[in-house]
Formats: sequence, C-alpha cells, structure tokens
Amino acid sequence: MTGQFMPLPPDHVPPELMVDFDLFAIPEGVTDPAEIWHGLVRREVPHIFYTPRNGGHWVFLNYDDIVAAYRNSDVFSSHQASMPPMEEWPVLQPVGVDPPDNMAFRRLLAPMFTPKAVREMTDELRRRSSALIEGFAGKGRCDFIADYAEKFPTSAFLYLFGLPEERLDEFLALANVFFRSNDPAAKGEVIGKIFAELEVFFHEKEKNPGNDIASAILAGRDANGDPFAWKDMLNCGFLLFVAGLDTVTNTMAYVWRYLATTPAARRHFRERLDDPDAFLRAIEELMRINAVSNIVRRIKQDCEYKGVQLRRNDRVALPNTLANRDPRVFADPQAIDLDREVNVHVTFGVGPHRCVGSHLAKREIMVSLQEWLRRIPDFELDPHDPASGVFGGSVMGFEKLNLVW
Ligand code: HEM
Repeated sequence: MTGQFMPLPPDHVPPELMVDFDLFAIPEGVTDPAEIWHGLVRREVPHIFYTPRNGGHWVFLNYDDIVAAYRNSDVFSSHQASMPPMEEWPVLQPVGVDPPDNMAFRRLLAPMFTPKAVREMTDELRRRSSALIEGFAGKGRCDFIADYAEKFPTSAFLYLFGLPEERLDEFLALANVFFRSNDPAAKGEVIGKIFAELEVFFHEKEKNPGNDIASAILAGRDANGDPFAWKDMLNCGFLLFVAGLDTVTNTMAYVWRYLATTPAARRHFRERLDDPDAFLRAIEELMRINAVSNIVRRIKQDCEYKGVQLRRNDRVALPNTLANRDPRVFADPQAIDLDREVNVHVTFGVGPHRCVGSHLAKREIMVSLQEWLRRIPDFELDPHDPASGVFGGSVMGFEKLNLVW
C-alpha cells in the first residue's frame, strides 16, 4: 500500500479487482524486498488484480497463471512490455521479440550456454572468483555486494565478450548507474555509453574475430543466410549485459545472506564441496526460494482470461517469487529444503524466453560458493551494520550486505 490517493480503475477493471500496490516501493523497515509480494498473499487479495501504480497493470499471483502467461505469447507479448510504459525502448534480441521471430537469435545464443559449454568455462570462472575472494579474505570483513557480487558477474561478462579484465572498473561504473540510478537523464546517458562501447567493440571484432560471444553474434546468419541487422546485434549484446549482471548479483546476495544466518546450510554445502550433483541440487532450491526477477508482459489484443477482461496494451506483472512458493505446486513451500528433489521453479522463466544463461548463472554461483567456503568456511552478518538499502522492481535486491568472519 502506498497510502497515496488511489486513482479510479479503468472502465474494464471491476472495483473489486483493484489493489493499491507499487512493486518499486519497499516500506520502511522491510529487510527483504520479496516480502511486499508475499504480503499480498497473506492479505488474501484477488489472485488476479489490477493496481493503478506505475502506469497501471495487472498482477498474477498463482503459479498456473504465471506459467500460462509465460507460455502464451499470442496473448501475453514480450514486445515493448516495459513498465511503466516507455517510448522507444530498444527491442532486445531475443527477449523483446515474440515467437517465431525470436528464434533466430535464440538459436544463435543457446549453443553458447549449454551445460557442456558452461562447464568448459569453469576454470576461468574459478580463477576470477578466487582472485576476487583472495583480495579480502584476510581482512575478516567485506561488503559482499561491492566487493564480490557486483564484480564477479561483470568480470564473467568481460570474459564472455573477450574484453580485457582491466576494464572491470569501467564496466562496473556503467552497470551501477544503469541498474541503480533513478534519474532518467543519467540512465539514458549511460545506456548511450553502453551501446557506444558495444559498437566500438563489435567493429573491432569484425576485423579480429575471436573465440567469444561478440564474434559468434557477428558470424550468425538469419533464416535466409544473411548476417543479422547491425542494430539487432547490438541489442543482443546489450541484453546479455542487462540480463546476466544484476540478476546474478542479487541472487548471490540473497544466498550469502541466508548462509550467513544459517550455520546448518553452510555445513550442508561444505560437506558437499566435492559432490557436484548434491551441490547443484541445493543451489536449485536456493534459486527457487530466491527468485529475484519480476517479469512483465503486454496484452496483445482485448481478450478475456479466466473471466477477467484484459485490454490491448495492459501490462501484467509475473512475480516469480510467488509462483515458486505456491502451495498447490510445492510441498511446504516456505521451507528451504536443500535436498528437494522435484523443483519446477520458474526463477528463470519458462517457455519461449526461458533464460538462456541459467546454466551459466548456476555455475557462477556454484564456483563462487566453492571458492568462498574453502577460504571462509564460517561467516555472519555484521551485527553493527548488516544490510541496508533494499530495492524492488524488475530485479529485487540489496544495496549493501556487510559480512564478517
Ligand atoms: C540468477 C540469475 C538469472 C536470473 C534469475 C535470470 C532470469 C531470467 C528470466 C526470468 C528470463 C525470462 C525473461 C522473460 O521471459 O521475459 C531470462 C531470460 C534471459 N536471460 Fe536470464 N537470468 C539470470 C542470469 C542470466 C545470465 C547469467 C545470462 C547471460 C548469458 C542471462 C541471459 C538471458 C537471456 C539472453 C534471456 C532471454 C532469453 C530469450 O528471450 O530467449 N540470464 N532470464
């Protein structure tokens, strides 16, 4: 609840389906941003409701409806589905394109992120992870966000794109403004800078192709055997930047925050450092319980869904954190069971846009946890200044997470 004046519902929304909910607003004192979503379920609001905030949009609360929206792109489109609605948002390839046109870029990207391809990245990811951890392990404390969780995925991005490691600080600065700034002018400027960097870099790779993602995108061909449009290639590069940094940073923040307060979970992972199957199964459960992304779709045409009138261009928010704790799908859904066998969570989405980088994300988290626990087997939240600055929105998370050991 925002406590502000609530506008009247649009005429296709019955008043009983109106709920005042702002997915960006985290009330004072809330230490876990996902709580704003779980609070809706506790309040027993309608499982499909409309909020007038952020341009006005629907929210689906149940697993089945969230999965139906992911799967049915004829009704729930990804194209120009920003929230609040924005003009001239670049069409990111392939996530902003509905089937079947999404397939050209999806086919190009998917082979680069298969479990096998990602396994082959392990040594380099491990080297980068351990170098970062060595930098502060002896100090007995760190701000996990600034010292690790932001740096590591950005470093992985440089590696994938064949960019020099020395450019880490530069890209971190760009990512920080892009992900954290609320100032549209500053954000617009940084988007321009990221595209300019990609442009220079893609031109360099045109002349000197290597074994990296940018070179693979340049070598890609569409269904007619032609190179992709330059604009689409840049938009794909931009998507990889947007999709693979903040999501991993904040998932890690949730995971380390949980481990810092749960000695039995630290032990569980420490005892399985050399058992990749058990280790990954436990990570899968942490992915379920810590779903940081809230995805948005746009209604393509006026239609009815489960008796609710949806109007063309209405937005629909799909909170993965709620789908993943739906008691109709998961036994004891609020409990973290690191041995949970069946785990049909939707943290990475489902259907035509399911996350291409899911194996990479899990590998980044696995390698980080292994390298961390080997050097810092026990740690806790800094009792004097544990965490501050939580945020909501399309990716939820923490600005700061102070750990001590
Ligand atoms: C824990 C980390 C991550 C989470 C929670 C996450 C979540 C998601 C979700 C929910 C989607 C579906 C979006 C939609 O349906 O509109 C998605 C798509 C995507 N993700 Fe991730 N992601 C993560 C990490 C990564 C990484 C590391 C990469 C880097 C390669 C990546 C690349 C992509 C791409 C390219 C898409 C679009 C796929 C398509 O449209 O076909 N993600 N991600």
